[in-house]
Amino acid sequence: MINYNSVRAVLFDLDGVLVDTAIYHFQAWRRLASELGYSFSVVDNEQLKGVSRVESLELILNWAGLEKSETEKADLLTKKNQWYLELIEQLNPEHLLAGSLDLLKKLQEKGIKIALGSASKNALGILEKTGIIAYFDALIDGNVVQLSKPNPEVFLKGAEVLGIEPAYCLVLEDAQAGIDAARAAGMQVIGVGQAEHLNGADLVVADLGTLVDKF
Ligand code: BG6
Ligand code: MG
Repeated sequence: MINYNSVRAVLFDLDGVLVDTAIYHFQAWRRLASELGYSFSVVDNEQLKGVSRVESLELILNWAGLEKSETEKADLLTKKNQWYLELIEQLNPEHLLAGSLDLLKKLQEKGIKIALGSASKNALGILEKTGIIAYFDALIDGNVVQLSKPNPEVFLKGAEVLGIEPAYCLVLEDAQAGIDAARAAGMQVIGVGQAEHLNGADLVVADLGTLVDKF
């Protein structure tokens, strides 16, 4: 159960919540894994959602039973990101997920603060390309956090910048790591997607559209 009346700030994950980029991360990781001789599955991919680029590579190398030097890892990360950037080059407002824009508008109208809480280092470019950057009162992304979800740092930093206590914050997440991070931060959390991948969420919805009337 969500207590919507207590919500003073909504903290949005980016990939797979606001923008339909999760598929491009999947495609770029699968291409990299395939070059490494590893067959990357959708089940593997689920475990990478919300996880930083560096930690994702470590997981893939681990699954593939491979060891790489720091230089080799850096090259692999650069390659993955270049492929990802190519895939998202044409990103535009049409790639916003259902209900994203309506919910952002509604929250702004109601005076509820809006923050980004994303692991991505590409987040700002994506918010610009999709035309929603102006809605955000705080932008916390992979360039400013040290610790990957499920660590709560990304959401606690958001709350701090907004000056709002965690108990009045609501997180919207599509990844298990993000649900765990929100709970560790002491915030309410709604999972976006399929309930079986979102254990511990206070509520799971198929898309953000169903939330617009709650505020
Ligand atoms: C998260 C995604 O939002 O950001 C992950 O769910 C991704 O799949 C991570 O690896 C880091 O993103 P980027 O853009 O910095 O490689
Ligand atoms: Mg996500």
